[in-house]
Amino acid sequence: MDGFIFRNPVKIIFKEGAVEHLKEEIKPYNRILLVYGGGSIKKTGIYDKVMKGLEGKSVTELSGIIPNPETTKVYEGIELCRKNDIDFILAVGGGSVIDSAKAIAAGAKLDGDFWDELFMKKNDITDAIPLGSVLTMVGTGSEMNSGGVITNPDVKIKCSYGNPLLYPVFSLLDPTFTYTVPKIQMVSGIVDMFSHIMEVYFSLPDDDNISDNLSESLMAAVIRNARIAIKNQEDYGARSNLMWIASLAINGLLALGKGEDWQSHTLEHTLSAYYHIPHGLGLAIVHPHYLKYVYKGHGDKFKRFLKRVFDVDPSEMNEDEAAELAISKIQDLFKELGAPTKLHEMDIDESRLEEMAMNTDEFKVDYSDLKHEDILKIYKSAL
Ligand code: NZQ
Ligand code: ZN
Repeated sequence: MDGFIFRNPVKIIFKEGAVEHLKEEIKPYNRILLVYGGGSIKKTGIYDKVMKGLEGKSVTELSGIIPNPETTKVYEGIELCRKNDIDFILAVGGGSVIDSAKAIAAGAKLDGDFWDELFMKKNDITDAIPLGSVLTMVGTGSEMNSGGVITNPDVKIKCSYGNPLLYPVFSLLDPTFTYTVPKIQMVSGIVDMFSHIMEVYFSLPDDDNISDNLSESLMAAVIRNARIAIKNQEDYGARSNLMWIASLAINGLLALGKGEDWQSHTLEHTLSAYYHIPHGLGLAIVHPHYLKYVYKGHGDKFKRFLKRVFDVDPSEMNEDEAAELAISKIQDLFKELGAPTKLHEMDIDESRLEEMAMNTDEFKVDYSDLKHEDILKIYKSAL
């Protein structure tokens, strides 16, 4: 394994009734910005439970965060923080809400423009408002990492910013809160966590390492538990396993001693910046097509993946056969769950692919060295 330094400071409280811990965890803070989405938390009763935990605090609300969150709401949140001298941001929702909270937390302490300084120039921050989360939708892992993804609709760029100051202080995880997530969003989250694991697994070093062992075990567990959750969205065992897998998938653990890829994510972020599709559904389309484009020379890894994740014996296959079978297994899994695997299934045609390819950063990582023309070929192969 390559060398590493690891520290993840997020306090996770994982149990049915986790929200009851809010009162205790939020004790040191007084002026709270409560950030949430389009209203599901009011329908499900989560809002009332959160407000109970916030009794006695001064609460300012920022609602209406949309999936694939945009800069506008971040600017609004930054203004609210300054006006009300906010000392803690509480995100109640999924990745979109938590990511917006992170951008607000950093932006409120910045002299310059948060988009230019952080998301474009990737400048380090030296201060941020502390934040916490009550998770209602599983998949992105934002509850246990220090990154966030925001879309600037003016330039159609969706990209990420990360800094250790943006780790949530605490995240409250109650698997029963996820029972009401619409099925297609649940599927999106399941694909997202599987994709997060693959982004790290399919990168160097490919020699035997414990991080890859953990990844294999988690990918097999995603498959098992997804099949149960699809049949019964209120299966506590499956929903709780999926919830914790999602956090583990992108909290830094699986990447220890390894490179990381994230290029399927780069390709997907452009897709959702242009077409506003759920992140995980975009990944179900682009991730297998990306792997098809870059697998040459890594056949041994795909053999190992076939055997340990899909329980298929690859010993009689050559490297290309093994890689191609592995990728079709991934696509079959996504189809079985009800996710799309081609762009046309999301009503996306060829018309903007060239513009999208030009608007996506070229990249060079362990498995790939992609120029704009390669990116276009991958998009076209997914039509
Ligand atoms: O807005 P409301 O009304 O709350 O409805 C939401 C939203 O429409 C609904 N929902 C959430 N919890 C619910 C619920 N509906 C009923 N019951 C509940 N308990 O679900 C919809 C989707 O929510 P959203 O937060 O958009 O989904 P997700 O968690 O998949 O977040 C996606 C965003 O996270 C980014 C994605 O790119 C995308 O912008 N990502 C963030 C990452 C990170 N910070 O580490 C990594 C990921 O790779 C990803 O890029
Ligand atoms: Zn993702």
